[in-house]
Amino acid sequence: MATTVPVRLVVNGRAVVVEVEPRRLLVDVLREDLDLTGTKVGCDTSQCGTCTVHLDGRAVKSCTVLAVQADGSVVRTVEDLAPDPDHLHPLQAAFVEHHGLQCGFCTPGMLMTALDLLARVPDPSDGEIRDALQGNYCRCTGYQSIVESIKAGAAAMREGVPMPGAEA
Ligand code: FES
Ligand code: FES
Repeated sequence: MATTVPVRLVVNGRAVVVEVEPRRLLVDVLREDLDLTGTKVGCDTSQCGTCTVHLDGRAVKSCTVLAVQADGSVVRTVEDLAPDPDHLHPLQAAFVEHHGLQCGFCTPGMLMTALDLLARVPDPSDGEIRDALQGNYCRCTGYQSIVESIKAGAAAMREGVPMPGAEA
């Protein structure tokens, strides 16, 4: 039988202990053990960015992290963005309003990467947004609408005012 070790995490504000084999990736533990399937696996080889979550406050590709490496860390996933089931986070609302998604597969990673940028740069330029997104692939939108969504979401977050469409 495979050996497991306890990994202690705070995930979306909740303390959890999961027993995992040391070879398992953080993204798989989030999706399979904690049922947080908003985080996607697009490549498993650290290229696409769909698996991006926040680890101790910074965006990381969770397919590049072993779950045991995250022991003792704070993890935030896309499930933690909306304040309640009836409302979206302003950045999510901006993606809806400005057509920042089509199939939506890349969107959780885009949101988490963008929020990492906006925490450091609340009013980013187009170039700063594009630089931040260079590890996140989208096969649908052509990126321009994602950049527009992030600019609109950033403005709404700075103003602290719910955007039109913020109702889920
Ligand atoms: S699944 Fe992690 S970068 Fe693609
Ligand atoms: S919306 Fe489909 S991959 Fe980005």
